[in-house]
Amino acid sequence: MDLGLNGKVAIVSASSKGLGKACALGLAREGAKVVICARNKDELEKAKTEIENETNNDVLSIQADVTNYDDVKKLVKSTVEKFGTVHILVTNAGGPPAGYFENFSDDDWENAFRLNFMSTVRLIREVLPYMKSQNWGRIINITSVTVKQPIDNLILSNAIRMSVIGLAKTLSLQLAKYNILINNVAPGYTLTDRVKFVIEQRAKDTGKTFDEVKSELAKDIPLGRLAEPEELANVVVFLASERASYITGATIPVDGGWIKGVY
Ligand SMILES: NC(=O)c1ccc[n+]([C@@H]2O[C@H](COP(=O)([O-])OP(=O)(O)OC[C@H]3O[C@@H](n4cnc5c(N)ncnc54)[C@H](OP(=O)(O)O)[C@@H]3O)[C@@H](O)[C@H]2O)c1
Repeated sequence: MDLGLNGKVAIVSASSKGLGKACALGLAREGAKVVICARNKDELEKAKTEIENETNNDVLSIQADVTNYDDVKKLVKSTVEKFGTVHILVTNAGGPPAGYFENFSDDDWENAFRLNFMSTVRLIREVLPYMKSQNWGRIINITSVTVKQPIDNLILSNAIRMSVIGLAKTLSLQLAKYNILINNVAPGYTLTDRVKFVIEQRAKDTGKTFDEVKSELAKDIPLGRLAEPEELANVVVFLASERASYITGATIPVDGGWIKGVY
């Protein structure tokens, strides 16, 4: 299938590592001009070189913190200066800290809101004029399985990410007339640096091996294993493509069957 992504301009936020980087690489493999960002400059340049070497595409890297509105504006402005427009936006950010209701102050809630909700609002706001004027756009928000089934000690993620789902569903109704489609993906446990770190910590705390802890996590996953970042990226790349022309307002789990609910 030709995905029709050759020459499309794609911004993937929070993309020097993990899910964001896998999405940027997947889009670049299909010929998209990709813009990546992260806070740490060295890691960002490493990712840029890796994607360029593998795809022979020119990648634009912009050091940016998605919680800072000036940085978000700079990211989109630099993209348009270099590539002329934006066709595809993949919103991603770091995850809020784990913990229970009693652990978090107002500041913690507001930080999570800025990190996972306001970053999405601002990125979308900055790209919309370009998508509207070309009557074509794809927005994909990376959320989490927590939007379908809460995880006990992730109250910030469980609560704040739901607002992204409400935002996307509302925008899907209003942006359809501009041929701008907006969807969410909900990754389950995926072997990124962040998850490897969590497994290492748990192994250290419990005296178990890395593989033992990984197997314990996999016990609740019908497919019996954690995902590779590329498996999430494959879904994002399809949603970003010409071929995903009749999907909008959806939230698609990529979780190996972990979510037990029907909807
Ligand atoms: N992996 C999973 O199993 C899983 C499952 C469900 C949901 N998620 C969610 O998916 C997202 C990505 O997770 P991941 O596992 O890919 O994490 P990761 O491997 O730690 O990668 C996170 C990436 O985001 C960048 N980043 C973090 N905060 C940023 C900020 N404020 N501004 C700009 N860039 C930022 C990081 O670079 P810098 O630190 O240099 O900025 C890095 O490139 C998180 O929200 C996570 O909660 C992950």
